[in-house]
Amino acid sequence: MHPMLTTAIKAARTAGNIINRATNDLERLTVGQKGFNDFVSDVDRAAENAIIETLLGAYPNHAILAEESGTQGESEYVWIIDPLDGTTNFLHGLPQYAVSIALQHNGQLTQAVIYDPSRNDLFTASKGKGATLNERRIRVSKRDKLAQALVGTGVPYRDFSFMDRYLAIARELMQKTSGLRRPGSASLDLAYVACGRYDAFFEFGLKPWDIAAGVLLIQEAGGLVTDMDGQEGFMESGDIVTGNPKIFAQLLNVIQSHK
Ligand code: IPD
Ligand code: CA
Ligand code: CA
Repeated sequence: MHPMLTTAIKAARTAGNIINRATNDLERLTVGQKGFNDFVSDVDRAAENAIIETLLGAYPNHAILAEESGTQGESEYVWIIDPLDGTTNFLHGLPQYAVSIALQHNGQLTQAVIYDPSRNDLFTASKGKGATLNERRIRVSKRDKLAQALVGTGVPYRDFSFMDRYLAIARELMQKTSGLRRPGSASLDLAYVACGRYDAFFEFGLKPWDIAAGVLLIQEAGGLVTDMDGQEGFMESGDIVTGNPKIFAQLLNVIQSHK
């Protein structure tokens, strides 16, 4: 295993322990609001600090892009971190959230970890080396008919500018797929595409830390990832569509038919 991936796993597990411990006493948490429907707790910050400490402890010259503390340093190596993806679920005691850590080297995603501390599910990927769940190789699903596909998504909840387009797409998908799911943790949603629990996923307006690790997982598991125009700009726009190659193509068609 690549030593940088080993370090990322250690960081993710440390953060996961902090998150798990806090679930015993959710009522005592201090919760702040960063904006409309945008919450942050002591746990998000403590988990993020622990991750950064572990990563910079091993690689002091690397740079950081983290959700709660922003950017730090300059380097060809940049760690992209969401310490707790699914904060709203976490605050409600709904066990669907994850720690997401990715490494970019000269702009290319090279290592990824998504850790679900409630289930102790560890997803990892290294560029060119495949993706795993709990040390077993994972692949995207083999389903090829949209009618049989389970499609994950995230609904607009803060920026409502794409609401009409989103609802038109969702309306069609509700009638043409096996089901739509909105669990509330984008990184886990992407990990689920990588291991075939979903056949596809789409969401508008995500941030780099929501998607960086999941994108590498899916690519290494044989899936496709683009923005809503079938292009590569998803890290910048945060608009993302992904799936196994067959369902991805059909989902992109539906999305493209609503502009
Ligand atoms: C959120 C989750 C959610 C997605 C939101 C994200 P956070 O992350 O990933 O699934 O729909 O857009 O902001 O704020 O809980 O880290
Ligand atoms: Ca997030
Ligand atoms: Ca977060």
